[in-house]
Amino acid sequence: MQPIDVGDLQLDDQHDTRQTALFHAIREKIVQDLWSKGSRLPSTRKLAVELSVSRNTVIYAYDQLVTEGYIESKQGSGFYVSVEQPEHFLSLSQSSNVQSSQDLSTEVDTPSGARVTPSDINRGFAPGVPDLDAFPFAKWQRLLQRHATRQNIAGNQDVQGSLALREALSGYLASSRSVRCHADRIMITAGAQQAISIGLMATLAMGDQILVEEPGYRQVHKIIDLLKLELDGVSVREKVGLDIEKVLSSNAKALYITPSNQYPMGTTLNTEQRLKLIDWANKNQSWIIEDDYDSEFQFAHRPYTSMQGLAGKLGFDDRIIYVGSLSKVMFNGLRLGYLVVPENLVARCLEIKEALTGDTAAHTQEALADFVQEGDLLRHIRKMRRSYKLKHEAMIEAIQSEFHGDLEVISQAAGLHVTVKWSNGISEQEWSRRAELENIIVRPLDFYEYGSSDFRDWHGAVLGFGNIRLADIKPKIKQIARLFYQ
Ligand SMILES: Cc1ncc(COP(=O)(O)O)c(C=O)c1O
Repeated sequence: MQPIDVGDLQLDDQHDTRQTALFHAIREKIVQDLWSKGSRLPSTRKLAVELSVSRNTVIYAYDQLVTEGYIESKQGSGFYVSVEQPEHFLSLSQSSNVQSSQDLSTEVDTPSGARVTPSDINRGFAPGVPDLDAFPFAKWQRLLQRHATRQNIAGNQDVQGSLALREALSGYLASSRSVRCHADRIMITAGAQQAISIGLMATLAMGDQILVEEPGYRQVHKIIDLLKLELDGVSVREKVGLDIEKVLSSNAKALYITPSNQYPMGTTLNTEQRLKLIDWANKNQSWIIEDDYDSEFQFAHRPYTSMQGLAGKLGFDDRIIYVGSLSKVMFNGLRLGYLVVPENLVARCLEIKEALTGDTAAHTQEALADFVQEGDLLRHIRKMRRSYKLKHEAMIEAIQSEFHGDLEVISQAAGLHVTVKWSNGISEQEWSRRAELENIIVRPLDFYEYGSSDFRDWHGAVLGFGNIRLADIKPKIKQIARLFYQ
């Protein structure tokens, strides 16, 4: 773990003694998460020299910090920022005064508006987090090591992304999703979020109308707002799916869609519906942003061919922008995704990517290229499909037995979450608030609504199961059932 740089540590004059001033100065660094968990503090001798205080002053302050649980002493190795007790304090203080970078990241806002720590946002029932215990990190480490010292990829790189990775993805996408693309049409991005942003910037201008699913993926609303596009919601109803007729009668310039597993309602578009939308885009000269989210994890049937692939067969794929992510099939922290665009958009997308971020971390891309090329990605996906299927079944069983039919699962058997509905009893917001107090995320359905939603006379919530252990599903469902009926 990185040693701490004492940097701007200041002793405040308002304290009675130097010892207490030092204690408070260090404590402040820890609670504000500036000195993070596990980091090594300077030795007492070194800190005394740096701050021009006596060594006893430092020893006293460290002793006090150890007593209060902010730091711990490891025999023969020094003092480390510790976790347990201050973490509780940290989440309280973060919610009130720290404007961290989390403000901008995926699904960090909680329904009650509180800020949460990174460990909180991945905990039980958090939607969109895959099984982090199951990822083959040892293999991943070997691949990273394989490339880590390659000097020839250490300089500036192709903005479009590693050719080896684009070729590997082209093969993977063609075989598993029937996506028709040469590596020249693939661009490596910082997750689906950047891919969607680039796709929208390349095709739409301020004030252009874009249709989005309602309820739908919040992250996409954010970029639409940022670009000052005109958002028009297309309702997605339980089990029925997207209001296709509304799309077909619209002249909007674009449609953003999650056709494999609509997020969060869990519906899917069949081939006929896909064809209608492709035809609409073609006739209207509109764009379809196909976010092929969760296509890999279908438990009840084989996945439908991607819209991009379907359109390609008909020779109409020049209106489809295909977006993919490695966040669910590998892990979110990787921050890699991709964009497949028609040939005539490649140059514009590259200009935008260059302006936004320039090229993408080269060594990670090479490791990923091997992970895909050597079959590890597919092996992992297959393994996880089996595992998520079991977890999905356990969720359904536990919900049935703990809620006695009061809660209905409305999402299809797919993906990493279930969407539930109920009509009587607690409101979705109150259930979520109660769960939050017990450190559990229960995401209310209104989190995904944008204001133009149809009136609902029922409540809904999304429960992610990707990163919860199979054995913990039943007790955790029991726990939230208690909160539901309380
Ligand atoms: C609908 C949808 N698309 C894409 C993603 C993946 O986004 P990213 O690759 O930016 O992590 C998510 C993540 O939860 C999602 O819900």
